[in-house]
Amino acid sequence: MAIPVLVVVLVLTAIRGVAQVAPASWRKSNITTPLAERVRLAGAALDTAIDRLRIDGYFFTNDATGITGDLYAQMALFDMATNRSKYENALGQYFKVVLQSGVNFSNSGLTHPFISDSLAFGHAAAHAYTAYGKNPTFLQYAVDSWWWGREYTLSKQAVSAGKFPGMNFTLVKICHNASMVGGTFQNTDPQNSLVEGYASGYFLVLSALLAEATADPMYLQAATESSTFIQSQLSNVQKIVQADITADANSSPCSVISDTDPTESGLMFEGLAVLASYTKNISTQNLGS
Ligand SMILES: *[C@@H]1O[C@H](CO)[C@@H](O)[C@H](O)[C@H]1NC(C)=O
Ligand SMILES: *[C@@H]1O[C@H](CO)[C@@H](O)[C@H](O)[C@H]1NC(C)=O
Ligand SMILES: *[C@@H]1O[C@H](CO)[C@@H](O)[C@H](O)[C@H]1NC(C)=O
Ligand SMILES: *[C@@H]1O[C@H](CO)[C@@H](O)[C@H](O)[C@H]1NC(C)=O
Ligand SMILES: *[C@@H]1O[C@H](CO)[C@@H](O)[C@H](O)[C@H]1NC(C)=O
Ligand SMILES: *[C@@H]1O[C@H](CO)[C@@H](O)[C@H](O)[C@H]1NC(C)=O
Repeated sequence: MAIPVLVVVLVLTAIRGVAQVAPASWRKSNITTPLAERVRLAGAALDTAIDRLRIDGYFFTNDATGITGDLYAQMALFDMATNRSKYENALGQYFKVVLQSGVNFSNSGLTHPFISDSLAFGHAAAHAYTAYGKNPTFLQYAVDSWWWGREYTLSKQAVSAGKFPGMNFTLVKICHNASMVGGTFQNTDPQNSLVEGYASGYFLVLSALLAEATADPMYLQAATESSTFIQSQLSNVQKIVQADITADANSSPCSVISDTDPTESGLMFEGLAVLASYTKNISTQNLGS
C-alpha cells in the first residue's frame, strides 16, 4: 500500500517542482520522463491504491497513521497539479461514506481511534477545497475534522487546570522548560497519555490550511500553538520530529519516545510552509529552512 502512495508523492513533486533541481549527489538527479508520462504514472498509482479501499472508504490494511486520508489528499493534489477534477465526485462520495462510521471522521472502527487518522481526512478535505474551486462541502469537512482534533489538543485552560476532559490522569504542565499547550493526543484512550508527533503535525497543517482558507484567527492561533509544541517538545537536536511525549504528571512525565518517521517531520514542514506563506512571518520561514 505504501508503495503506490509514495510513488504518487514523488511523481507529483516532479510535476509541480519544474524549477527545482535535485542535488547532483542523487542517483538520478535529472528527471527526464516526459510530463504526460509522469501524469500517467501518478494516475495509475493512485488508481491501484483506490482499488484497495473497502466499502467503508478505508484501506484494508490496519490504518494507524492517517494513510487513507493521505490517499484522499493525493487524489486532490493530483487534480490540482494537473488542473483536472478527475477525483472530485469520488472524493465527495468517499468522505460521505467515512462520515457514516463516526461524526467529524472520529471513528476508524478501533476501540480507541487514532486522532491522526481523523485529521488526515480533514487535511485531505482542506486540499480538496482548494483543488475544486473552493467547493464549500469540502471546507465543511475540513472544519468538522478540525473540531474533533481540537477536542484532543492541549488547550491553555486544560494545561493550567492540570486535567483534560475525558483523560483519566493529571496533566503535566511543563516539559523541557516549555508549556505542553498545542500538543494533540495519540488516541481517545483515557489511560493513554501519549501526545503525538503525527496527530500534532496533522493538526498543525489542518489549522494552517484553515487559517489560509477562512482568515479566522482561531485557526492561526491553533497552528501557532501546534508549531510551538512540536518545536519545543518533539524536535530532536537535528530538528527531526520524534514520535511522542508522555503527559501523565504521575507516571514518568515528559518521556520522549524518540523514534522518527519522515511523516512527522514532513507534516511539520508542510504546516510551516503554509503558515509562512499565509502570515509572511520571517521567523516562521526561518524555522522551516
Ligand atoms: C536533464 O535532462 C534534459 C533532457 O535529457 C537535458 O536537456 C538537461 O540538460 C539535463 N539537465 C541536467 C542538469 O543534467
Ligand atoms: C485549467 O483548466 C481550465 C478549464 O479546463 C482552463 O480554463 C485553465 O486555463 C487551465 N489552467 C491551467 C493552468 O492549465
Ligand atoms: C463536529 O464539528 C462541528 C463543527 O463543524 C462541531 O460543532 C461539533 O462540536 C463537532 N463534534 C465533535 C464530536 O467533534
Ligand atoms: C482511571 O484510572 C484508575 C487508576 O489508574 C483506574 O482504577 C480507573 O478504572 C480508571 N477510570 C477510567 C474511567 O478509566
Ligand atoms: C526556562 O525558561 C525561562 C523562560 O521561559 C528562562 O528564563 C529559563 O532560563 C529557562 N531555564 C532553563 C533551565 O533553561
Ligand atoms: C512570528 O512567529 C514567531 C514564532 O512563532 C512569533 O513569536 C512572532 O510573534 C510572530 N510575529 C508576528 C509579527 O506575528
